[in-house]
This record gives sequence, C-alpha cells and structure tokens, in this order.
Amino acid sequence: MELILASQSKMRRHILECSNIVVTTVPANIDEESITKSLIFENVSFRDIPDTLAEYKAKKISAKNPEKWVLGCDQVLVFQSKIYGKPASKKDLLERLQLLQGRQHRLITANVIFKDAKPLWRHVAVTDLTMHSLDSTEIHDYVDSAWPSISDSCGGYYFEKTPHLFSTVRGNWFDILGLSIGPILSFLNQASEKTPLKVPPIVAVLGHPISHSKSPRIHRYWLNKNRLNGDYIAIDIPPKNFSNTVKVLASVGVSGFNVTVPYKESALALADKVSPKAGKIGSANTLTVTKNCHIYADNTDAYGFMENLRALSPNWDPKSGPALVLGAGGAARAVLFSLIEAGAPKIYLCNRTRARAEELMGLSSSLIDVIDWKDRELWLPEIHTLVNTTSLGMIGKPALDINISKLRKNALVTDLVYSPLETDLLRNASRNGCHVVGGVGMLLHQAVPGFEGWFGVRPNVDEEIERLVLE
Ligand code: ATR
Repeated sequence: MELILASQSKMRRHILECSNIVVTTVPANIDEESITKSLIFENVSFRDIPDTLAEYKAKKISAKNPEKWVLGCDQVLVFQSKIYGKPASKKDLLERLQLLQGRQHRLITANVIFKDAKPLWRHVAVTDLTMHSLDSTEIHDYVDSAWPSISDSCGGYYFEKTPHLFSTVRGNWFDILGLSIGPILSFLNQASEKTPLKVPPIVAVLGHPISHSKSPRIHRYWLNKNRLNGDYIAIDIPPKNFSNTVKVLASVGVSGFNVTVPYKESALALADKVSPKAGKIGSANTLTVTKNCHIYADNTDAYGFMENLRALSPNWDPKSGPALVLGAGGAARAVLFSLIEAGAPKIYLCNRTRARAEELMGLSSSLIDVIDWKDRELWLPEIHTLVNTTSLGMIGKPALDINISKLRKNALVTDLVYSPLETDLLRNASRNGCHVVGGVGMLLHQAVPGFEGWFGVRPNVDEEIERLVLE
C-alpha cells in the first residue's frame, strides 16, 4: 500500500511505516496561521478547523499527484473555549502548561484522504486529557528540557515521551500522536484489493532511567526481521507516577510493556492478574494489556536464564549437583526460582548482606542454604553450577573476588554480567576447564515470550541479534 503524506511530521510518517504503508512525504506548506485566523473570524466550529486545514494540505498535494492516495492531517488543542496551535516561544509554552495543569483539555485530530483532487474520506478524532497538577519547578524543568524540540507539537508535549504528565486520558494513542491510523486503515483496506493492513501494536519498556535499555533494539530487530507491523519504544517514568502512567497507557491502547529497574515489584502490584511464576518470584518484567484493558503480569527472567543455559550448554543438567548463587538482588530471585524449577538438588545462596539472602529462603527453605559472603569459596569442590548475579565484575564496578581453582572441572559457570562480554569469572572458569555461559543470552531469551505475545510470532535468538545488542 502506498500513500503520499502531505505533512512534514516524522511521527505521522513513522506511524504509517509501522503499519507497513510505503510513504512519500510531500509537505504542503500552506499558511496555517492565516487560514486558522480567518476560520476563527468566520466562527467556524473548533472541530472544523483542523479538518479544513487537513483538507487544504491533502488537496494541494493531490492536485499535483492525482493518481495517488494523499493523506492530510492536522491537530489542534482546545482549552476553555480557546484553540491553541504550536507554542510560539518558550514563554508561550510555559504559560500554556501553567494553564493546563490540573485541568482537562482536548486534542482534535483530523485526517482527510484525497484522490484525483477530490476528498474521498475524512475522520475527526477527539481526545480528552487531564494533566497532573505540576509545581512551578516541575513546569520549569520540563520546559527547559523540552524546548525548543517541542515547538512543533500543538499540545506542547510529546505524549509518547512524557505520558506521566497526565492523570487521565480518554482517547487513543495514535489520535494523540496526530494520525488516526485505525480508521485510516479501515478505509484503505476497503478501497484496496491488497492484504488487509492491521493497526500496529505498540509496546514500551518502562524504567527510570531508561536510555541504557537494549530492549528497543532487540524488539525492533525482530519486528524488521519478521516483517511485522508494530513499534517498540522506551519511556522514562519518574517514580511517583509509575502505576497511574501504566494504566493511562493501557487505556489508550498500548499493547504491553517490559518493565525494568526500579519498577519490577511495582509492576506486579498494579496488575489485575499475575502469573504463578511472577507471583512466586515477587516481581514482573512483562505486562500484557488484555482486551478488556486489564493488565496481566508475568516474569520471563527465570525463563530467559534457563533458556540461555540450555541453548549454550546443552549437556548441562541442573539436577546433577548443588548450585552456588552469588548475590541476592532482584535478578537472584529469578535465578533461584529457575534452578528450583529445573530440579537443582541444593542451592547455596551467598550474599554480602546475609539478611537479604535470608529473605529469599521463602522460595524453598528446604533447598536453599544461606552462607556468609566470606565463605563463598568453601563449598566450591561440590558445586556443579555457579551463578554470579551480583554487579561485581561489570565495567565500572569492583571485581568479583573469588578464587575458583577448587571448582570441579566440568562445572557450569555463568555470569549475569555481560559488560564486558567475558568477565574475569568466565575467563578464569574457562581456564579451569569449566563450561562457561555469558549473560547476554539471558537478556535476549527473556524478551522472547513477551514479543511472541504482543506481536504474534516467536522470534529467534541468533548471532546477529547478539552482535547488535553488544554494539
Ligand atoms: P539486581 O536487581 O540486578 O540483582 P541489586 O538488587 O542491586 O541488583 O543486587 C545487586 C547484588 O549485587 C546484591 O546481591 C548486592 O549485595 P548486597 O545485597 O549486599 O547489596 C551485590 N553487590 C553489589 N556490590 C557488591 C559488593 N561490592 N560486594 C558484594 N556484593 C555486592
């Protein structure tokens, strides 16, 4: 399916591309300000203003490309009987946010399709959004960080980057972003013989901070590789807004989320339904929004850990002997769960802070033995599986101080740290004749069930994605 987009908006183009539409951008360059002024002067309804602007744009480009579908779009913000376009200056944005905070405003999104210089189809969508009450520092911080890049957004915000600014939203993700893809696809599907196109599922990884996350890279690679429509983005959510923001995003049609530090426990707490695994582990990294807008929480970290070991060390048998797990943080919970489920006969759990390790005994008090950090080498001769879940050995962190010369030659050693790819622990274990498995595969395998659930295809963990994630 091909379409000319009569707009410079990168987001609109991106939404169409995520829907497998081949887009050519031809900006219409109409004088929006004068047209809007004259429409207001003529007392035209607010709804008709973006609709007329969208029509002007599509008409102009269609006249030069009569044989093509041409889409024109426009969006305005309406607040207390006044219409707003793009903020003209930093001061303008500041004043606007001061007005909007704690109150409801409306976005009107118009879409018009032309062919042969005639309007064939139009759709106007309405979204009502209420901003949280922000204090003056929050508003100033936001304006300082967002200006001037925000100057092309009629709302003065990019909803997809800062959904935490909103307490309630009644509407649809794509309408808010400026293009009503669902209705557009319904029209195009009806008008064409080609295979029907589907609304792209949107998935986001949530955390604070989030810029380091490799998840968008992984999921976008799989989307491309499998030629699927959809998008996967990263959203940084400040702590006080986490639960409410997830619910807002689910309500506007986001299909699911990955959740990372520091929200894995909060993700479990906000869910309407929890998988037995996530309940037992006590945290969730994968959320799926069901048809009735309920949130289902799962934990795929344990699965990712075990799949990685099984893929890279197929002869390893967790049942063959005791395991030693170093560390007792969030990652250790999933590792313990996974080893218990796979039948490890005994697990020594060793953490700098003994009390934290004792908290994890609840996973299986009969299988887990907590040992002091100073005793981490004591049991090595009988260990079959050694797992480092601490951050020690990571670039920028202290080294993991452990002499593994007493470890059995055929033991399996794995390190959740994957930066560097070969940690000192893995290098020493390799020299010792042990089987070694790096941690990056866990990151990749834990992403598989989520991707399959949201996008409908089970992706492969191949060497190319491993390379990509380490770049
Ligand atoms: P994650 O959720 O990724 O597991 P975490 O909850 O911060 O991260 O846990 C990090 C683990 O590394 C913890 O077991 C931590 O030990 P404490 O519970 O004593 O904090 C361990 N760790 C971090 N720095 C350490 C150090 N210098 N020596 C020993 N263990 C350390």
